[in-house]
Amino acid sequence: MITVRPAQPRDAAAWLQLRRALWPEGSEAEHREDIDRFFAGDAREPLAVLLAEDGAGCPVGLAELSIRAYAEGCGSNRVAYLEGWFVVPKARRSGVGQALIVAAEGWGRSQGCSEFASDAQPDNEVSAAAHRALGFIEVGLVRCFRKDL
Ligand SMILES: CC(C)(COP(=O)(O)OP(=O)(O)OC[C@H]1O[C@@H](n2cnc3c(N)ncnc32)[C@H](O)[C@@H]1OP(=O)(O)O)[C@@H](O)C(=O)NCCC(=O)NCCS
Repeated sequence: MITVRPAQPRDAAAWLQLRRALWPEGSEAEHREDIDRFFAGDAREPLAVLLAEDGAGCPVGLAELSIRAYAEGCGSNRVAYLEGWFVVPKARRSGVGQALIVAAEGWGRSQGCSEFASDAQPDNEVSAAAHRALGFIEVGLVRCFRKDL
């Protein structure tokens, strides 16, 4: 029995743990800073955080969401965006990821968005399969660049 609900300040430690598992390249201090900024209401990204809990109330997954003015393959300028999506390994393939996406879509609609977009690393075949299974259509593969100014 999976429940999906918005993250509350009391979830900060659980959210941190899920975030560190999803993005291990970020330091704990950086993740904490993002979490503090979110609960202070100062974050543009993520704008919303959904947590999935199992029947015992244990956090087993998260979706971090934002609204982007532009997303690859989209036509509107207010696109609900899946910034982060993670389910703990022991809970995978049991519909938790799907429950998070369904809730995220509800959030996007409530924000007036008519499109929902996401991205994945090119070699993340599990993510690609899960996106496709949940109704996303692959719209492109991009290379990213930067330089110092
Ligand atoms: C991607 C992820 C969130 C999916 O979560 P999940 O709870 O396993 O997803 P669900 O159980 O709701 O699966 C929905 C459908 O996606 C597809 N799918 C999910 N995992 C799959 C896999 N390993 N191989 C093939 N298809 C898969 C299936 O069609 C599945 O439906 P089914 O189990 O009835 O066949 C999870 O695998 C994860 O956290 N991965 C690591 C982090 C990550 O890569 N996040 C995405 C970053 S873009």
